[in-house]
Amino acid sequence: MNLRGKMLLASGFHAPVLGEVEVLTDVLISVGESGEIVSVLRPADPGYAKAKADAAAGGRLEILSEGSYLLPGFVDCHVHAPQYPQLGSALDVPLEVWLQKYTFPLEARYQDTAFARHAYGLLVEDLIANGTTTALYFATVHQDATRILVDTCLEKGQRALVGKVAMDNVDSCPDYYGDASVDAALSGTSALIDYVRHHPDNRDDRVLPVVTPRFIPSCTDATLEGLGAIARDCGCHVQTHASESDWEHGYVLARHGMTDTDSLDRFGLLGRHTMLAHGNLLTAADMETIRIRQSAVAHCPLSNAYFAGAVFPLRAALEKGVNVGLGTDISGGPSASMLENCRAAVTMSRLLETGVDPNLPPDQRASGRPARIDFRQAFHVATAGGAKALDLPVGQFVAGYQFDAIVIDSRAEKGSIRLFDGLDGGDDILQKIVFTASKANISRVWIDGTVVA
Ligand code: GUN
Ligand code: FE
Repeated sequence: MNLRGKMLLASGFHAPVLGEVEVLTDVLISVGESGEIVSVLRPADPGYAKAKADAAAGGRLEILSEGSYLLPGFVDCHVHAPQYPQLGSALDVPLEVWLQKYTFPLEARYQDTAFARHAYGLLVEDLIANGTTTALYFATVHQDATRILVDTCLEKGQRALVGKVAMDNVDSCPDYYGDASVDAALSGTSALIDYVRHHPDNRDDRVLPVVTPRFIPSCTDATLEGLGAIARDCGCHVQTHASESDWEHGYVLARHGMTDTDSLDRFGLLGRHTMLAHGNLLTAADMETIRIRQSAVAHCPLSNAYFAGAVFPLRAALEKGVNVGLGTDISGGPSASMLENCRAAVTMSRLLETGVDPNLPPDQRASGRPARIDFRQAFHVATAGGAKALDLPVGQFVAGYQFDAIVIDSRAEKGSIRLFDGLDGGDDILQKIVFTASKANISRVWIDGTVVA
């Protein structure tokens, strides 16, 4: 059921405000011809009954069945598209070994465009089926394969931000994978931006280009400086990794004598449209700089458990007013599901608050500051929060936003959520969805009001 030009009668949830969930009961959402939300009427609103009757009489009323819940689509703020073939494997070594042993050899394979087409097709389809309506993608260094990722998102209808990875530092990149020169890194970045912006199938900017220095260790200063200039000129998004692990954080301190955040800032890479992946070891001053620049952090709770050796202080960042989105970090995190990453965000926050060493008494085990979040904050960060971080009008059901949404069918036979009449109600149903729903419960996905799954 395509919803452009129609009205949907549905119940569900959204979380425009951090920490608050609005339970939507029998709302009428009117969707325009471009997939934008024209109006959201609640039963108590004037005009509700007439709008419903008019839409029904005109054959424009679609009704979500009982037991189905409308949610905003998920916004995955950190995905390495080429790493999908190793999702769920290669988790046994530290980051710096993982890159050289598993990840660079896999990414190098995208020189082969047939391989890229196959892998990217599977990834984008699977992410949509998991309810991810927007994804911020790192691709590879390759121009052709990265264009195939752009084409694939446009063909399958996913909202996406795609970056050709820039990595030209011969001291840390292998000889078989990387940009051959500063010029290759910069001209390749510009060429991809032009390709996305002038793509004949991308007139509504469903896909956006992203300036993508992999991380400081992979890039020469000349490339970081050039990418900063490109980002300023094109005004497009920027993504990179920052202060992820002790090794990476220490490398930047040793090479530049300052933190990732300060170094990226001096290259002009910290702006309103910058997404910093991980950020586990950000200092208080870094957090303040990121807040002032209105940049954002992509929190990747599962990946951080394997590669960071630390838990990102999500609650502290949110309380400080830093923009934060949630990321799967495929394949650093072994799940493509944003629901699973919501759960992980809650779980990790609890462990950060209590501490984990059973040999310590409770008062020494705890971190000493409140760190826990609940399903409300996790859901916000996975939807409206991520969208705000990316400055995109999605992630909530409000007039003027685009209709990117999913349906959770709590009665799906092969699903994993079970609701009990008389026991479950209100935002507790969302809590159950966040903790127990799975791909089999996602019965429909819309992007810009059009069914994509
Ligand atoms: N740092 C540089 N590259 C990567 C990557 O591919 N994954 C993660 N998690 N961290 C990185
Ligand atoms: Fe990453």
